[in-house]
Amino acid sequence: MAGCTVNRINDYTGLSIGNDTAPIRWQQGELWLLDQRRLPDEVVFEKQNDAFEVARAIRELKVRGAPAIGVAAAYAMAMTWRDGGDLVDAAGALRTARPTAVNLGWAVDRMLCTHTRGEDLVDEACEIHAEDRAMCEAIGRHGAPLIKPGSRLLTHCNAGALAVSHLGTATAPMYMAHRAGIPFHVYVDETRPVLQGARLTSWELSEAGIDHTLICDSAAAHLMAEGEVDLVIVGADRVTANGDTVNKIGTRALAIVARYHGVPFYVACPTSTLDLETRAGADVVIEERAGTEVTDTIPAVSGVKTRNPAFDVTPGELVTAYLTDQGLLAPGELERRKPEHGT
Ligand code: MRU
Repeated sequence: MAGCTVNRINDYTGLSIGNDTAPIRWQQGELWLLDQRRLPDEVVFEKQNDAFEVARAIRELKVRGAPAIGVAAAYAMAMTWRDGGDLVDAAGALRTARPTAVNLGWAVDRMLCTHTRGEDLVDEACEIHAEDRAMCEAIGRHGAPLIKPGSRLLTHCNAGALAVSHLGTATAPMYMAHRAGIPFHVYVDETRPVLQGARLTSWELSEAGIDHTLICDSAAAHLMAEGEVDLVIVGADRVTANGDTVNKIGTRALAIVARYHGVPFYVACPTSTLDLETRAGADVVIEERAGTEVTDTIPAVSGVKTRNPAFDVTPGELVTAYLTDQGLLAPGELERRKPEHGT
């Protein structure tokens, strides 16, 4: 049975702890996940013993970001198969760990199809991981020209190396432009309530030496009104056939204010995040997470009622273009595109 090691974020990011910081490591047949809940204070990897542990890690956001949870689930399926476990049970636990990102079900289905064909599931998981890296690289290549000397970008949540397996998606053009020596600045939304921007994106950009400023989510509109933002790049958990983009809560508000202020709004998404079978964002299940995530980080009134939708839908009409591994696509072009590697 072939093994593989995919454990480098990449020279582009310049992450000082290099080999040890890629969020998903498959080494000598063991799956190790970087516990992202502990960042930026601690870099701790945890060995995963079975698919149910991986499903829990996905639910608890130890591993998060649409492509990363797909890759983690693929390795979990591979481990289950190798260890003689029940693939259907594993698939059920993984698929239901989080409902919104298309990559999770996509990866699980692809692994089940591989099993049906009688092929090696470890090889397939490694292949999914490698494809993910290649897609980030391609997104970076296509997106880097959007960043001009002096550009001021704004991003939301973390669609970076931690959410994927390489250069990230929204961050890939940034890493490539930075490597090419282009000076630019990034405003990072803190991204309430789990603070993926403050804890993860800012950490990544710091490690890479990319000039950035952390802002409260609510500051974005003001900065746009002041003419301080030239473009927005965000990631996606699912892009439906009509171009609706499901991404971290707050993305929709950002897209609306970007349109109002005439700021181009780009969605970076690998083709594995396209869900062309689903017509519109209204048909996507939006994950509601525990209210404690809302109250834990602030001095809230004890017992206050909470709502905690983790994602929202940005109408396709607000998206300037989709930054995919197959190039920059206009909203109307999505339906003609299919992932090159599917189930
Ligand atoms: O709840 P999270 O942290 O998994 O949400 C992540 C996002 O919304 C990202 O923008 C998205 O998954 C794209 S990651 C390349």
